[in-house]
Amino acid sequence: MEPGLTNPLNQGLGLRRSADPCTIVIFGASGDLTKRKLIPALYSLARKNLLASGFSIVGAARTPMRHDEFRETMCKANKRFTDAGLVHDIMWQNFAEGLFYNTTDTKSKESYEQLRQLLDEIDKKRGTLGNRLFFIATPPNMFTGVIQRLHELGLNKSPDGGWTRIVIEKPFGLDLASAKQLNREVLKVFAENQVYRIDHYLGKETVQNIMVFRFANGIFEPLWNRHYIDHVQITAAESIGVESRGEYYEQSGAFRDMIQNHVMQLLALVAMEPPVSLDTDAVRNEKIKVLQAIRPFSPADVDRYAVRGQYSPGGTALTQLKGYRQELNINPHSTTETYAALKLFIDNWRWANVPFYLRSGKRLDKRVTEIAIQFKKAPHRLFKDNAGGPLESNILVLQIQPDEGISLSFNSKIPGQFINIRPVNMAFRYAESFSQKSPEAYARLLLDAMLGDSSLYARGDMVEKTWELLTPVLEAWQQFTQEIPQYEPGSWGPREADELLERDQRRWRQP
Ligand code: BG6
Repeated sequence: MEPGLTNPLNQGLGLRRSADPCTIVIFGASGDLTKRKLIPALYSLARKNLLASGFSIVGAARTPMRHDEFRETMCKANKRFTDAGLVHDIMWQNFAEGLFYNTTDTKSKESYEQLRQLLDEIDKKRGTLGNRLFFIATPPNMFTGVIQRLHELGLNKSPDGGWTRIVIEKPFGLDLASAKQLNREVLKVFAENQVYRIDHYLGKETVQNIMVFRFANGIFEPLWNRHYIDHVQITAAESIGVESRGEYYEQSGAFRDMIQNHVMQLLALVAMEPPVSLDTDAVRNEKIKVLQAIRPFSPADVDRYAVRGQYSPGGTALTQLKGYRQELNINPHSTTETYAALKLFIDNWRWANVPFYLRSGKRLDKRVTEIAIQFKKAPHRLFKDNAGGPLESNILVLQIQPDEGISLSFNSKIPGQFINIRPVNMAFRYAESFSQKSPEAYARLLLDAMLGDSSLYARGDMVEKTWELLTPVLEAWQQFTQEIPQYEPGSWGPREADELLERDQRRWRQP
């Protein structure tokens, strides 16, 4: 966070903040992210009056397009991807007056020169004061090309005392070496406090609530350690397949796509120590300490700690589902994993010997992201003769999505003459407790970037640390000669993932 700014959590203001007038330049503007997420998020900020008048957007991509064509495409996309009924014609017209397009190709210096001229014109006409936010949403192999061109044209600094910041979409590298290289390239051109490495999970309301739940309540934190917790499971499951993103996904796979970023961020929030304040660096320092304490994997360990899998064809007679290898733009012999699970230990005072099990996959039984904290069993087995069998452990579930909430299961006597016990649930649901809808993750994060608040963005050292930990797993998988395990669509992943927990006398939850 830049000097002078205080994290909004401190101020308790949530989204009730408004940004300086500025122009956001979206590189990769003809892609899916712009249509599905960025434009609807920016439009929702405009609707809530959180953008300054004069706020402008420049779409930048190789596809030649005129300003009006871009406006029309974005209008259609916004209608499709914004919640039904929320697009008001007049409001959209106002918003669309600030939409521009510049055909931009890293191979052509002139196209960047034109972009610079357009930005200067917008500053003059719309009063954006030289404040610029560059959002890089191109395919990853173009990241450094864009950054170098911005540098060549001096666009890494703003004219007239304005600010310039850059948001970089994931994936931030493909392994440790490439992440370090990308960090070096970016930091040659921009200062760290100009750089915003986005992880949209950090913008989710339920993810922000993890810290509030842990540190704004007195009763959970005393139990939050190896004395009371048996293990932790983090699940980020999707029911969809790879859809139209085959080209990207082949290079990525579930481990890079979800575990290295989103799931590791969840892990850090669950396992970190309380920060001394909510200042950006105080929080980020605690998060990186967790990563530093994770026991590294040696390639020889990988089989015991990590599992990969790929979805096979399946479905029912009515709904035949393609296997991963039959999807568009996928190599029919691909060994890219669509499922990954990992067991890890955090070697510190709080978590010594408490396993953390992480998993993520596509085409699983359902879409659900949750963190389940499983507590140790009661120390004395008073009710060992329970008719319903051995008692269940208490489980605290932080439900990130969908059906956002928190629940705690505990054992209760079933009413009746005999002692018969089964688990019941105490549950909090956002939808029941709060009337307002949670802001979209991208809206929250884009506004933060405009405000110069990088608390909910990943710091460079953290990204490198996750790659350092996880790259040995990817390298070991590359050397594997055996077939990648397959799993049925609609299941909970390959058999090998169950075995990972069965070896520890545990089992995955079925959310
Ligand atoms: C993205 C991944 O970062 O997150 C996608 O690239 C995945 O593969 C998506 O589908 C999941 O995000 P969410 O917000 O729907 O959980």
